[in-house]
Amino acid sequence: MMKASSGFFRSISIAMAALAASTLLTGCERPPIDTVQHGFRGTGMVQVYNPRILVPETYKNVVPDALPAVPSDGPRAKDVYKNVQVLGDVSTAEFTRLMVAISQWVAPKEQCAYCHAPGEDFSSDSMYTKVVARRMIQMTQAINSRWTAHVSQTGVTCYTCHRGNANPEEVWFRSPQHPQATRALGNDAGQNKASPNVGLSSLPYDALRDYLSSNPKEIRANGATALPTGNRASIKQAEFTYSLMMHMSDGLGVNCTYCHNTQNFAKWEGAPPQRVTAWHGIRMARDINATYIEPLTSAFPTARLGPVGDVAKVNCATCHQGAYKPLYGVSMLRDYPQLGRVTGATGATGQAAAAKPGMLGRVLFDTGRSDLSAAAKAEIDKAVKAAMADASVKIALSGFTDRTGNPQANLDLARNRAVAVRDALTAAGVPAARIDMRKPEFVVGGADANSRRVDLVAAR
Ligand code: HEC
Ligand code: HEC
Ligand code: HEC
Ligand code: HEC
Repeated sequence: MMKASSGFFRSISIAMAALAASTLLTGCERPPIDTVQHGFRGTGMVQVYNPRILVPETYKNVVPDALPAVPSDGPRAKDVYKNVQVLGDVSTAEFTRLMVAISQWVAPKEQCAYCHAPGEDFSSDSMYTKVVARRMIQMTQAINSRWTAHVSQTGVTCYTCHRGNANPEEVWFRSPQHPQATRALGNDAGQNKASPNVGLSSLPYDALRDYLSSNPKEIRANGATALPTGNRASIKQAEFTYSLMMHMSDGLGVNCTYCHNTQNFAKWEGAPPQRVTAWHGIRMARDINATYIEPLTSAFPTARLGPVGDVAKVNCATCHQGAYKPLYGVSMLRDYPQLGRVTGATGATGQAAAAKPGMLGRVLFDTGRSDLSAAAKAEIDKAVKAAMADASVKIALSGFTDRTGNPQANLDLARNRAVAVRDALTAAGVPAARIDMRKPEFVVGGADANSRRVDLVAAR
């Protein structure tokens, strides 16, 4: 792997030298800046690329070669090893291959010794790095199986964030209050101290705290009314929103028009589909930080924590590192499927539209509608009969939409569809206590009639 990438590096150096030479020959001009049209003609939605930056960026995003494949049959890791809590269901050959890969991705110098103390049994949990790594395996599996709305089938591996470093290069910490913040002439409202978190702009430098961890604030700059009545989006809040937008643009190496039709930043209609992916990305980053990374704070030694004692957290740049898709969309996950599903627990939690066991019925809806057709009512009657036959069965309702259009409106629509089915069930005599409302969802990649539905599933 090292050899391949240094060879690559050499050819890049030659390319750079050639580029430099051609620059000398053509005068003092730097290579021209490229623009690529991204939106409708006349909207000015272009992306600006600088070839001088793109070449090193491309080098940074080359993926290491995959390790040779190994058999997935044979004894399971949990039957052979003593303390395997997450990867127990994978074959021992796959387990070992994964340990070798993880060493290359996270600790290429120290290898196994980064997480397993030399001389100790491999089953010991004495090193914090192993404890963190175990949770990171679960986190990676969760990203790949629960957040396909963002990472699609491309997915992530440890390498996406770590790239051969034990500490990912791009992380964020909370900012300590700056000493000048309480100076005589009032406070700086967290502004005017250039921070890489906000693309070195003079916008609020601690904005990620409000948007990418637990208890996030609304990302809104525009009020919904003409007069400021009830409009809580002040200029100050708009500045915080812009901080986040600067971070997102910088982290992906794009400009605002990658996700917005700048005629109206708030409008979803006419915005490129990337904005919807980004919307899911914001929710995913929050989930990664709140569910996996922040609870690990006490596992880390103090030296790893930030100036106010918080753990290094994930933002858009942690995975993207300046590319519109991490590693320019190459999937390493394909070669390490053990990181793509939740192992150890029962079953994966993919969002496939296939009928689940225990299905009592599936009610379909027209685009944008939540009212019940005659076919929908017949389907509900069928489910009521099935459910009434067994008094111990509850009916779990999940509302879905396809993934086109405004995501917030879609969540409302999915909920309204589930509510319509619930009301029909109670009207048919099913007691409310036997109905279990589940979280509304989008169907990933779904744009067909099957995505606009409510599933009725038997639950106990
Ligand atoms: C980045 C941390 C990390 C590195 C590096 C690493 N491991 Fe592990 N290792 C783990 C974790 C985490 C587990 C437990 C997995 C689980 O609970 O599912 C584990 C478990 C094991 C076990 C099972 C021990 C038992 O009896 O329970 C063996 C064997 C093992 N590793 C071997 C290796 C070898 C060999 C290397 C070097 C090629 C290596 N590991 C590198 C994190 C690491
Ligand atoms: C979404 C990004 C992301 C992914 C994917 C990821 N990590 Fe991490 N990892 C982090 C962050 C952030 C930290 C905290 C870094 C710090 O303290 O500077 C971290 C820290 C660690 C540490 C502690 C290192 C130290 O020296 O303190 C280990 C070990 C680790 N990760 C292993 C793994 C393994 C193994 C995988 C794959 C199964 C993985 N990580 C996947 C983001 C990620
Ligand atoms: C990678 C995609 C992406 C990029 C790049 C991006 N935005 Fe956004 N922007 C979004 C998303 C997604 C939202 C909605 C966030 C939410 O509701 O959770 C948003 C919301 C906004 C809002 C709030 C609109 C409202 O509803 O009040 C403004 C203003 C905004 N962006 C401005 C910008 C500016 C200025 C830039 C360039 C510096 C930019 N954005 C770059 C994805 C992006
Ligand atoms: C855990 C890693 C990870 C994090 C964190 C992450 N992304 Fe992504 N993102 C991905 C992957 C992987 C893809 C590629 C998916 C694909 O191939 O379709 C992607 C794709 C995208 C795309 C689609 C690009 C295109 O041209 O289709 C956008 C936009 C995006 N991310 C925005 C964001 C924003 C904004 C954030 C931070 C709020 C973010 N991402 C955080 C992993 C991540």
